Amino acid sequence: MASHESSYRPTSRFTKWIDDRLPLPRMMHGQFVDFPTPRNLNYLWTTGGLLTFFLVIQIVTGIVLAMHYVPSAHDAFNSVEHIRRDVNYGWLIRNIHAVGASFFFLAAYIHIARGLYYGSYKAPREILWILGVVIFLLMMATAFMGYSLPWGQMSFWAVTVITNLFSSVDAVIPGLGTRIVEWLWGGYAVSGTTLNRFYALHYLLPFVIAGVVGLHIWALHVVGQNNPTGLDIKSPSDAVPMAPFAIMKDLFGLSVFVLVFAWFVFFMPDYLGHADNYIEANPLSTPPHIVPEWYFLPYYAILRAIPDKLLGVIAMFSSILLLIFVPWLDTSRIRSTKYRPVYKIFFWLFIFTVVALGYLGAKPAEGVYVQWARVFTAYYFLHLLVVLPIVGVMETGRPLPNSITEAVLKKGSAAPKTR
Ligand code: HEM
Repeated sequence: MASHESSYRPTSRFTKWIDDRLPLPRMMHGQFVDFPTPRNLNYLWTTGGLLTFFLVIQIVTGIVLAMHYVPSAHDAFNSVEHIRRDVNYGWLIRNIHAVGASFFFLAAYIHIARGLYYGSYKAPREILWILGVVIFLLMMATAFMGYSLPWGQMSFWAVTVITNLFSSVDAVIPGLGTRIVEWLWGGYAVSGTTLNRFYALHYLLPFVIAGVVGLHIWALHVVGQNNPTGLDIKSPSDAVPMAPFAIMKDLFGLSVFVLVFAWFVFFMPDYLGHADNYIEANPLSTPPHIVPEWYFLPYYAILRAIPDKLLGVIAMFSSILLLIFVPWLDTSRIRSTKYRPVYKIFFWLFIFTVVALGYLGAKPAEGVYVQWARVFTAYYFLHLLVVLPIVGVMETGRPLPNSITEAVLKKGSAAPKTR
């Protein structure tokens, strides 16, 4: 882990005894109390703490829900209603878990956009970034399987549509795709067997995520945090100890985010969901518009933008997997987009593209909606595969400050000239 002089001093004979045998308190102190944190971090750097908070909340509320939930096609829907109506505070636990999934993704999207804007994926943070992409994929798998559990109409038909995507492999090796789908289903259709295995995996994956998050934070503490200037910490004045400075800022950011979260939990818990999921799953009646949860909509739009089923599936998966290669696709020697006026325009165009794809993913796959989805899908890939490498080489960029301290002190005229 990042080497710095630890200020940890055992204060009693007992803590000294522990320190000589298992220096865990020393490690925690070194990594989470006096760890050098860039002094200029803005509120976007509180999203990592937010994500950790939501991971814990999802696991804790999920375990309580699992005590009352019944993973069978016959009872699942009613067991969720039972939780909401009969179990003490079941409505609250369920609302926190369902709305929590949305806010977890919201925090993840801000976290990823922050990384993209400030070039946090660039050397030496490539592994940290790739671990992030792995976490994101695991989050998507977990959320997808979790959404099947209430066994409403959208649960059932989302599982049917998405698992059926694998049948597109039939176009390459006839019969193989169908066999994969049947293997996933555990039968010839989505059924209670599918629900039961999704439940098992939905319970397991958050713990896998927690393990990868451990690696993610380990990798972060080896190389240290990036910051809005993209410059490395060069002198002690560039950094502050993590506690109390960064921790207090994290706690304030968390409080504000949780207030908004609480508003949804208490006043509009179903706003982010789909009304059809309050109709019990019925394999004989297909809803007119099958839409996933909001956080999957951009990928759903990409899938439907391409007329060929197999190519659509490939485009959808590669839109996420391409993120792994961003550290090498971006050829710029400047980390932070703050100092890249040309790339900044493309960056915001990319964000607009993802939001537009999200909007189009919720619309019917016809007419003008599909045409626009094609335009934005094209830009999504163009941005990652062409704009990132080419603008990186061609752009000169604005002059960088000499250090983080210089950038901070220059900003406010009221700030003291020396420190
Ligand atoms: C459960 C999900 C996640 C958790 C709990 C988590 C946790 C954290 C924490 C605590 C930090 C340090 C604080 C901060 O910089 O905000 C961090 C930094 C970082 N994370 Fe994540 N993360 C998650 C998902 C992701 C994803 C999906 C990505 C990208 C695809 C990602 C990429 C990064 C990067 C690049 C940094 C370094 C930022 C910098 O120093 O500028 N993380 N993460």
